[in-house]
Amino acid sequence: MLHVIILAAGVGQRMRSNTPKVMHKVAGIPMLQHVINTACELNPEQIHVVISPNTQKFIDNVSNTDVSWVIQNEQLGTAHAVQQPLAQIPSDADVIILYADTPLLQASTLQPLVNNLKTYDLSLLVAKLDNPFGLGRILRTQDNSITKIVEEKDATDDQKLINEIYTGICSVKARVLKDLLPKISNNNAQKEYYLTDIVTLAVHSNLQISSVTAPNNQDILGVNNRAQLQVVERGLQKRLAHNLMLEGVTLADSERIDIRGQLSCAQDVYIDINNVFIGKVSLGNNVTIEPNCVLTNVSVADNSTIKANSVLEGCIIGENCDIGPFARLRPGTKLDNNCKIGNFVEVKNTSLAEGSKASHLSYLGDAQIGKLVNVGAGTITCNYDGVNKHKTIIEDGVFIGSDTQLVAPVTIGKNATIGAGSTIRRNVPAEELTLTASKQKVIYGWKRPEKKK
Ligand code: UD1
Ligand code: CA
Repeated sequence: MLHVIILAAGVGQRMRSNTPKVMHKVAGIPMLQHVINTACELNPEQIHVVISPNTQKFIDNVSNTDVSWVIQNEQLGTAHAVQQPLAQIPSDADVIILYADTPLLQASTLQPLVNNLKTYDLSLLVAKLDNPFGLGRILRTQDNSITKIVEEKDATDDQKLINEIYTGICSVKARVLKDLLPKISNNNAQKEYYLTDIVTLAVHSNLQISSVTAPNNQDILGVNNRAQLQVVERGLQKRLAHNLMLEGVTLADSERIDIRGQLSCAQDVYIDINNVFIGKVSLGNNVTIEPNCVLTNVSVADNSTIKANSVLEGCIIGENCDIGPFARLRPGTKLDNNCKIGNFVEVKNTSLAEGSKASHLSYLGDAQIGKLVNVGAGTITCNYDGVNKHKTIIEDGVFIGSDTQLVAPVTIGKNATIGAGSTIRRNVPAEELTLTASKQKVIYGWKRPEKKK
C-alpha cells in the first residue's frame, strides 16, 4: 500500500510573488498539479499535500479533489513537514516523498524507488551535477554505502566538492518515519528539522538504504526563482512538443510552440511556428494551423485550416472549414462543416450552419446563421442597444450585400437577398430582395473646401 506525501509548504521567498510558489504555472498548469498528476500515475492509496496556511486560499487552483490537504502551521523544516500527515498513514505502508516544486518529475523515475521498498527501508533519488551548489551532498563509505546527507550550509569545504546530490525525493517505510522522525533535532546551521538527517539515524539503526540515480538531470530540476521557472517551462514544452511529433504531428519548429493546458491531435496535423494552445484544444485529422495563432479551449474537426494570425477562444469548428488569416472567433462560436471565416471578421456567440461564409471585415454577434449563407464584406450585426444584447437570425440561403447593418432583434427569411449598404431594422421576408439604399444624388458644381495659403 503506497502513500504519497507532497511537500508544498515552503515560503518560496525567492519567487518574489503574492502567489505561493507551488501555484505558479508551468505549461499552463500549477506546479503542484503536475506533481499530483505524476503521483496519481503510481496508483497510491492516498496523496497527502502539506501546505502552509497561506496556500490554503489557492487550493481551488488544483483540480484533483481527492488529495488530503494537511496544514503545516510553521515551516520548521522538511522533517517537520513530513510529520504532519504521518498520523494518517498506517505503519505498514510504503511512502514516497515528493516536492511540489519539481514539476518535470516523471512516474517512470519514481517507480524504481517504490520497487526498492521490497528490499530496502529507505531509497534516495540522487543525481550527479556539474554544479551541486546549494544542494544536500551524499556521503558514502569506501564500499559505496550511503552514510549521510549534508546540507550545503553545514558542509565542510571537502564535502562541498562532492557532486552527488540528494534530489529531495525518497521512498521510505512508514514505520521508519514513525520511529525516526521524532529523533531528528534542529541542531544545524539553519535551525531546521532536516528530513535528510533520517539517513544517519537509519544507518545507526542498521536499516538498509539504497539509491536510484535520476535518468536525467532535467527531470529533477527544482524551482526556487522565476529564472528556474522559465528553464523548467522550456524543458516541459520541449517534452510536450517531442511527444506530439511521436504521435504523428508535424511541427515546423518544436521550439516555437507553446502548450498551456492539454492539446490533443489526431493524425497528420501540421502546426507552423509561433502557435499557442491554451486550455483544452483538440485538432482533428489533417488540420493545419498556420503561424501566429492563439487557440484557447477550441476543437477543430478534420481537414480544417486556421490561417495565420487568427485568435480563437471557446469555439467549435467543423470539418473542412477555412478560418483567417486575421480572424477573431470569440466564445460561443460554432461552425458546421465547410464554413469560411475570412480576414478581419469577429464572431461571438454565433453559429454558422453548413457551407456559410463571412469572408471579409464583419462583426457577427449573437447570431444564428443558416446553411449556405453569404455574409458580404463589412456586414455588422448591431446586437447591443447599450443595455441588452439582441439576436439576429439569418435563415438558409440568404445573401447579404456588403456594408449591411442588421439591427437586432431581426430575422432575415430564407433565400432573401439584402442590397448592399442597407440598414435593416425590421424583419425581412423570405425569397425577396430588400434594400434601404436611398437614391443616388449628384450635386453639380460642388467644390471641395481648400486650405488657405
Ligand atoms: C532540500 C534537502 C536537500 C536537497 C534539496 C533538493 C532537506 C533538509 N534538504 O533542501 O538535501 O538537496 O531539498 O531540492 O530536506 N517544505 C515544507 N515545509 C517546511 C520546509 C520545506 O513543506 O517546513 C517544502 C518546501 O515547500 C519544498 C521542500 O519542502 O517543496 C524542500 O524545502 P527546502 O527548504 O527548499 O529544502 P532545500 O533547502 O531545497
Ligand atoms: Ca528548495
